[in-house]
Amino acid sequence: MVFKYHETTKHAQQRYARSLGYMDWSMQPDPFRVYNGAKTIKLPLAIENSTPPYHLLDAQLPSAPLLKESISQLLQFSMGLAAYKESGGSSWAVRCNASSGNLHPTESYLIMPPLMPEQDSKSSIYHYRPKDHALEELASFETAFWKKLPENSFIVGLSSISWREAWKYGERAFRYTQLDAGHAWQAFVVSAKMLGWKVTRLDRVSDADISTLLGLTQKDRFFEDENPDMLFIISPEDISPKLSIDALVENIPLKFEGIANKLSPSMQKWDIIPAIEEATSQVQIPQPTTLRSEIKKTPSRESKDVVLNRRSVHVMQKDISTITKEQFHNMLASVLDSQDAKENSAHLAIFVHQVQDYEAGLYVLVRNFRDKGDLEKEMDAKFSWTHTEFEHLYLLQTRDLTSTSKAISCSQDIASDGAFSLGMLCNFTNQLKQHGAHRYKELYWECGAIGQQLYLEATSMGLSGTGIGCFLDDDMHRLLGLTNNRYQILYHFTVGRGYVDSRIMTRPAYS
Ligand SMILES: Cc1cc2nc3c(=O)[nH]c(=O)nc-3n(C[C@H](O)[C@H](O)[C@H](O)COP(=O)(O)O)c2cc1C
Repeated sequence: MVFKYHETTKHAQQRYARSLGYMDWSMQPDPFRVYNGAKTIKLPLAIENSTPPYHLLDAQLPSAPLLKESISQLLQFSMGLAAYKESGGSSWAVRCNASSGNLHPTESYLIMPPLMPEQDSKSSIYHYRPKDHALEELASFETAFWKKLPENSFIVGLSSISWREAWKYGERAFRYTQLDAGHAWQAFVVSAKMLGWKVTRLDRVSDADISTLLGLTQKDRFFEDENPDMLFIISPEDISPKLSIDALVENIPLKFEGIANKLSPSMQKWDIIPAIEEATSQVQIPQPTTLRSEIKKTPSRESKDVVLNRRSVHVMQKDISTITKEQFHNMLASVLDSQDAKENSAHLAIFVHQVQDYEAGLYVLVRNFRDKGDLEKEMDAKFSWTHTEFEHLYLLQTRDLTSTSKAISCSQDIASDGAFSLGMLCNFTNQLKQHGAHRYKELYWECGAIGQQLYLEATSMGLSGTGIGCFLDDDMHRLLGLTNNRYQILYHFTVGRGYVDSRIMTRPAYS
């Protein structure tokens, strides 16, 4: 099913993946989930909180206590609104986590130990409502589960409403939904670092258990399907990704408070989407990690300013998009190690357009040496694989790739007018055969997390970036000389200097 879905939803010049081809505004889904009838808890805004400089986030920072205020900051600087944009009489919210087409399929939930005195000994499950920066209490219950964890640990669950993406993108929507989940995950990782907290994704938890924890199995509370993505523990300490949550799941109440709002009056069905959701719902047991980066970071702004000012650009200023070698290296170093407990699977095939001291051409950043020999064998035999001064980066071919990268990115100028653009090239068939179909989602999460990190790194250096989900899959594979699906490109990204459209006004996210 995964191989079928992936092939079916490839974009090609003569045939884009199936979608309506236009937007039916009467069916536009609400981007904000609300649980009607659930108790709402307003969170204090964290905008005045001081946060560590962005370049120090990887240092061992002191951990914040677990309080309503710190939870509020975590959420505001990960899944919260960053601003409202206004133009031509319409207005829309932008958030700290990027999302394809700003459609935001990802919802987030907290599972908290007893925090407030009025909770007695009760643990609680909350849904985060970014629009009002509030929590909705869905359930409260007793559990001894927290004894297994260091003090001040709690759980975040992510889920997705793929209809929000399918409304616009049709059958390819499942891919975007998973990339967005990866962006949200990395947004949490960075926001947690600001508080000296660590994020560990639990890689043995079944989708069924995540659904139980988030109340998603209670179908009578939902109009549109909402599917489980991932669970992570946030804690002052490192936790084993193997941690079992059985002791928690057995204490979850059968019935939660609140009925999920209806997002659209009606829905267009794409049969392949529930089919791929079902096929990828069984998790299999994984393996250990890989490369670490040792690059010295350039002093930067306060981290909250970086996450709040992250934006996609839709026009690059070609004439001034050249970046320095150090900026380029910083960007690459920031995505060398994966947040995941599993091995990195995504490598970066990079089109260098305008980077000082680098010749224009095709490069590859190998993020896992397990694959290096294999990549050399699979890719075009003419590639030179010349070492560069950045340890894991190889020059394959010098060449002007501006028009090629634009053509491959669905003719989008942003891919050619920046300093560099790239495709995330994943070890595909072997990973799926080894780890099972659920790995398909995990590969997209890894790519989404890389995308979110690249956005933030670019923002921290005064540069701009944009995720590119629209690309011609097999044209990119042909360029790399790939003749089978052992490696597949799952996501593109571009970096440069963006053009700020002064006609678009910005208003604060929360009054
Ligand atoms: C997975 C993904 C795919 C995207 N694909 C494209 C794309 O092909 N072209 C584009 O101009 N923007 C693309 N974007 C950028 C989104 O449109 C942008 O994130 C969204 O409008 C929200 O704006 P913001 O990033 O400024 O918050 C993509 C973003 C994500 C996360």
